[in-house]
Amino acid sequence: MSKPNDELFKNVISHAKEYGFVFPSSEIYDGLSAVYDYGQNGVELKNNIKTYWWKAMVQLNENIVGLDSAIFMHPKIWKASGHVDGFSDPMIDNKDSNKRYRADQLLEDKIDRYDKDGKTDKAEQLQHDMDEALKNDDLPRLKELIIAHEIADPVSGTRNWTDVRQFNLMFSTQMGAVADDADLVYLRPETAQGIFVNYLNVQKSGRMKIPFGIAQIGKAFRNEVIARQFIIRMREFEQMEMQFFVRPGTQKEWFEHWKAMRLKWHLALGTGPEKYRYHEHTKLAHYADAAFDIEYEFPFGFKEVEGIHSRTDFDLSQHQKFSGKKLQYFDPEINQNYVPYVIETSIGLDRMFLLTLINAYVEEDLSTEEKQDSRVVLRLHPCLAPVKAAIFPLTKKDGLPEKAREIMDKLKINFNLQYEEKDAIGKRYRRQDAIGTPFCITVDHQTLEDNTVTIRHRDTMKQERVDAGQLENIIGGLVSWKNLLSL
Ligand code: GAP
Repeated sequence: MSKPNDELFKNVISHAKEYGFVFPSSEIYDGLSAVYDYGQNGVELKNNIKTYWWKAMVQLNENIVGLDSAIFMHPKIWKASGHVDGFSDPMIDNKDSNKRYRADQLLEDKIDRYDKDGKTDKAEQLQHDMDEALKNDDLPRLKELIIAHEIADPVSGTRNWTDVRQFNLMFSTQMGAVADDADLVYLRPETAQGIFVNYLNVQKSGRMKIPFGIAQIGKAFRNEVIARQFIIRMREFEQMEMQFFVRPGTQKEWFEHWKAMRLKWHLALGTGPEKYRYHEHTKLAHYADAAFDIEYEFPFGFKEVEGIHSRTDFDLSQHQKFSGKKLQYFDPEINQNYVPYVIETSIGLDRMFLLTLINAYVEEDLSTEEKQDSRVVLRLHPCLAPVKAAIFPLTKKDGLPEKAREIMDKLKINFNLQYEEKDAIGKRYRRQDAIGTPFCITVDHQTLEDNTVTIRHRDTMKQERVDAGQLENIIGGLVSWKNLLSL
């Protein structure tokens, strides 16, 4: 990782905390590892990202509907889905420090080190050997690689390793008062299974015809052993998932369709296409016959933000088998019953949040010959900005606060606004720039005479004088979802 990127990332994390976007969870108790809380601006930004996704997936597609299924589900669901037996990471312990590591992560760190030291051949060879071992679930081979490449525990400094073992990522808890095995329930590690087990309920009650989709936004939980890179890998996080049910044999074309549509959704936010890339999975999950990730170039390298998976009929067939209930669809067009195939789009809301924040964060030097000046501005798309406009009375007297409040009261039904009267206007602009507010509206003495205000634009810092009666239209036009969703 190069220094400037390292620094940029650190600055974004501290900015997120200073301006009420993301706080470490339980901070007054020294935090809880890999768990975070969203503050007053974070929750608005997160809600706006959810709205953008929901509108693009549900509102704009007649054949996609929403769902909000419970986090707790029957434990057999996780047996059927393969998560009880197969949802695990290869772990290794150091016998001296008693610290546990993901074996593939130790190897990836070594690959990074080889790259940094200019040992490209060694890096490529190790990458290839690791990929092969992971593909074949060859745990002894992973240990061999760790030993052969002389990887030491960063804590103890020794190479006294245990064997590599699989470690299940699901959290479990007890349901009911009596603690016995029958009451064991899991916190869902993905929202998708809630969609699968409700697929017939939705299909029948909504009279849905294949192809159709079910979309859901909700929390998921994974006992990630390696928690790092801020909100990239959390133990409690949110997913926005859509399962698209199709006729068997048509999955390839729908896979291509959703792969393209999802990248388009990302790019509509104005992010440079060079910041994104597709990554094809070499090791497919137990349920998939094709899988691509959409990756974004974070300051620490390209990382997965969203997965597009062709899940075949695996999940529905498994639930049919484990529940003993038929989950078939009668297709009137071909007069046949079948278990539908599924294309899944699965995006991590928290990763999307971080991507949005990093992408928007700019440190600007505004110095002139006369004076030094700078600002930090979040160039968020106006639709995603937590606060759409800030209203400032120029001074705290002469009836200006009353007039500003009067204007605000008319606008606040449609827009999330902030009122500020403390400090000089310049300072107030900077505070709003830092949270990405697209417009600042100043009420001055002229406003009392002719009902005009100044509106100052975040990105250009240009100001114009407009009739206060026009504000609804001006702000409404610039923050309209039409700007993002007319794909
Ligand atoms: N239903 C399919 C599924 O869950 P996944 O690739 O494991 O697939 C989908 O997860 C997305 O969820 C990822 O692309 C990522 O954005 C997000 N995600 C996964 N694990 C995460 C974690 N521990 N913390 C934050 N986001 C995570």
